[in-house]
Formats: sequence, structure tokens, C-alpha cells
Amino acid sequence: MADHAPVTKAVVPAAGLGTRFLPATKATPKEMLPIVDKPAIQYVVEEAVNAGLEDLLLVTGRGKRPIEDHFDRAYELEEALRAKDDPERLAAVRESAELGIVHYVRQGEPKGLGHAVHCAHQHVGNEPFAVLLGDDLIDPRDPLLQRMLEVREQFGGSVVALMEVEPEQVSLYGCAAIEPTSEDDVVKVTNLVEKPVPGEAPSRWIIIGRYVCDPAVFDVLEKTPPGRGGEIQLTDALMTLAQRDRSQGGPVHGVLFRGRRYDTGNKLDYLRTVVQFAADRPDLAAEFLPWLREFVAKHDED
Ligand code: G1P
Repeated sequence: MADHAPVTKAVVPAAGLGTRFLPATKATPKEMLPIVDKPAIQYVVEEAVNAGLEDLLLVTGRGKRPIEDHFDRAYELEEALRAKDDPERLAAVRESAELGIVHYVRQGEPKGLGHAVHCAHQHVGNEPFAVLLGDDLIDPRDPLLQRMLEVREQFGGSVVALMEVEPEQVSLYGCAAIEPTSEDDVVKVTNLVEKPVPGEAPSRWIIIGRYVCDPAVFDVLEKTPPGRGGEIQLTDALMTLAQRDRSQGGPVHGVLFRGRRYDTGNKLDYLRTVVQFAADRPDLAAEFLPWLREFVAKHDED
């Protein structure tokens, strides 16, 4: 039955400590760091909603309340903006509260991405669901999740998003061994390795943070022992499903993504992402880009 159920729910793990951005993330969730003027997690929620997934479950933990406030109404702020007759900012404040239906569950213990996804079991039930990781932003001009949902519809099982990277980057990610299918941009996943040691990667195709999971993943996660980093890995659970046929919750397919992906998970990539988003903003680019050019030229001279 679950095999034919449509995907309506998205799970967004957001319980990480954000240690790479300390001290900024001492009292602010890393998911709330702004990309220009919008917190990173709002882009992710918008992506899910744009793909038709309006039922969102955020897996959070201690110190993550600002995320809940962000997706809630803010009456005092709204009143103040109304009194100031500032409809533009008022709309911006209301927008994040009206995106979809956002639910929350707490992870409790930081036992890994697989464990975070398992925390969604009760909410998701026996339906396929999407998982979106907040460190990766996908350009809305290159819709990926929609394509993954189509692939789930066509092939059943689970679907991961794959991107080709330079060999030296592979060990930072989950990596897939793949076989072609009749569709140009779709592959069958035959092996998955979480953060392979250099030289042992099965390919240069890495998992970026978008998944469509068959609900069979929940049972598998329960039996998945801690893997890389002593954590319960979603990659390991999907590897188990990749070996199964459709009647048992398998297989796993990959969508080969060649569009624009922005990483916000580390300082350097975060800075690149902010600059790229600013350069694409009609209200900022006209002033920002000439300044940036001049700044770089001057910087090079010094
Ligand atoms: C997680 C996954 C990994 C995936 C990556 C994508 O790793 O475990 O398989 O490639 O997200 O961003 P993390 O970045 O949480 O260590």
C-alpha cells in the first residue's frame, strides 16, 4: 500500500550543534544564520512547499526555539509594522508563518542523521517521505525535489540526489556506486558508503542532502548499528534498502543533479553562498556587484 501512497511530508533534520560557526551559533541555531536576509532554513522549507510538500516536520533539539518562532506569527512585530505603514516588511514577516504546516519533534540525543530521521517515524507513519538537509540549498530555478518525486512514482523504493565532485571531496560525503537506467538522469544505486576513506570511494557521485525515502527505512534504521563517526547513518540504512526489491521497500535510485547547489555547512562555502545570493538579488546586485569588483581589484593591488 505504501508503495503507491503519494509523498506529502518532508522531514528537515535541524538538531545539529553548528560547532563550525561558533561563536555565532552559541545561542543561535545554525539554521537561522541568514543568507542575505532570510534564514537558511526558510529556503529549505520553501523548496519543500514548492514541490507540493506542505506538511513539514522539523527534527530539532535544545536551543532551537528561534526556529519555531520564525515559522510562527509575530503579532507584536506585525502590529508595529502595520502602525508604521510598512506593508513590504509586514509581508516578509508573515510569509514564513504561512508557508506550510510545520511540526516539531526533538531528537533528544545526538546519535546521527539516521537517528534524526527515525525520530520522524510516528509523524510520518507508513508513507514515503522526503528528507531535506539544511546545509545544502538548491536553486529554485533547477528543481530537484520534483524530479525525485517523479522517480519515486516511476520506480518505487527510495531516491537520493547525486552530484559529481572532484575526487578529493568525495570523502566528505556519502558516496554511491551506480548503474544506468533507461532515463538519462536516473541511475540505480548498487552500493553506498558513508564518507569513504580516500582511495576507496566507489565513484565520484556523492549524496547531496535530498532524499525520498520509502517508509521501510524506519525498520531498517532501528536495526542499523552506529557507523561512520559512531553515529547511526541514513546512508547505511539506504544501503540495506538498495539490496532489496520493490516488495520489501527497495530499491534505491539516484537522480543525477547538474544544477546549482549552494553549501552553507562551512564558513567558506557559506560566504560564497551569501555572495552568490546577493549577486542574484535585483534589489542589491546593482550596487553590490560594482562594489565587489572594486573591492577585489583593490584588494589584489594591496
Ligand atoms: C550528511 C550525510 C552524507 C551526505 C551529506 C550531504 O553528512 O550523512 O551522506 O553526503 O549529509 O550534505 P553530514 O554533512 O551531515 O556529515
